[in-house]
Amino acid sequence: MRILSGIQPTGILHIGNYFGMMRPAIALQAEGEAFYFIADYHALTTIDNPETLRANSRRIALDFLACGLDPDRGALFRQSDVPQVAELAWILSTVTPKALLERAHSYKDKVARGLPASAGLFTYPVLMAADILIYDSDLVPVGKDQKQHLEMTRDIALKFNETFGGVLRLPEPHIQPATETVPGLDGQKMSKSYGNTIDIFGDEKEMRKRVMSIVTDSSPVEAAKDPGSSTIFHLYSLFASKDETTAMREAFQRGGTGYGDFKKQLFAKLWEYFEPMRKRRAEILADHDYIDTVLARGAERANLVADKVMARVREAVGL
Ligand code: ADP
Ligand code: TRP
Repeated sequence: MRILSGIQPTGILHIGNYFGMMRPAIALQAEGEAFYFIADYHALTTIDNPETLRANSRRIALDFLACGLDPDRGALFRQSDVPQVAELAWILSTVTPKALLERAHSYKDKVARGLPASAGLFTYPVLMAADILIYDSDLVPVGKDQKQHLEMTRDIALKFNETFGGVLRLPEPHIQPATETVPGLDGQKMSKSYGNTIDIFGDEKEMRKRVMSIVTDSSPVEAAKDPGSSTIFHLYSLFASKDETTAMREAFQRGGTGYGDFKKQLFAKLWEYFEPMRKRRAEILADHDYIDTVLARGAERANLVADKVMARVREAVGL
């Protein structure tokens, strides 16, 4: 089984990325052959500074490795190190109905937020389909916000296969209900675009400050509180043990503990959870060639697979 996912190098990784996509992706490395890449072609739809793009791409590689991605089990590479993917995107675009792309929530949201409506932004889902299909991927771990892109990938692959024969493998999304939408400080989906994130590798003071600024209702200390509607409890339950989660749920329902105390518990647990990853990150940073070596090896493995699939595709369409 081949597992594939990508992440855009558009900013600093937050715990929504971690629990929604990276942790499941890392866990899936044990189940098959993992291909994970840094979607730098995609990031060109929003970043126009070459230094920023290069620095962000290295940083994503560093952070993903620090979080437990094992480059001996899977491949970590830059999207742009497999440029055939842009060729496949072109070929797929010729069978993709324009109306399918017009329905994309992500495109509509980005334009509503003020991004220029470039052709690249509009055809983003076609490149994403190419990313997935060029590696014969079976499973794609992502957060819920990517569900529609996965459906579009399947639609595009079906259309291609109907037209040219069964050339492309249909992938399945892997979206875990418990972590499909990690809430941010304001209770909305955590996202760098909303400024409501807790960064994975922020310093201690910053992480504490972010956790302490989680929005709550104004229940007094003595009041019983609803864990179900609390961002603090939701975040805590993503990674605390069963017993710890039960203890916090009961403390919410009992009353007598203020939100400030719950936030302190959440911060302490978060800081402890990411401690081994901070250590690993420092080790990787001390090894100057490590990231480049990992990315070069990953690109080599990815190219081998992509070349095979592209040979099938070119043959099928008559190129
Ligand atoms: P952002 O919304 O901060 O820009 P990205 O769109 O770069 O994040 O997301 C990268 C990956 O992380 C995707 O697979 C996405 O589904 C996942 N992800 C991002 N935010 C969350 C969240 N709040 N909950 C669950 N998954 C998320
Ligand atoms: N669109 C994804 C995001 O914004 C990134 C991405 C690009 C991706 N290509 C992919 C994810 C292929 C999974 C598979 O997060």
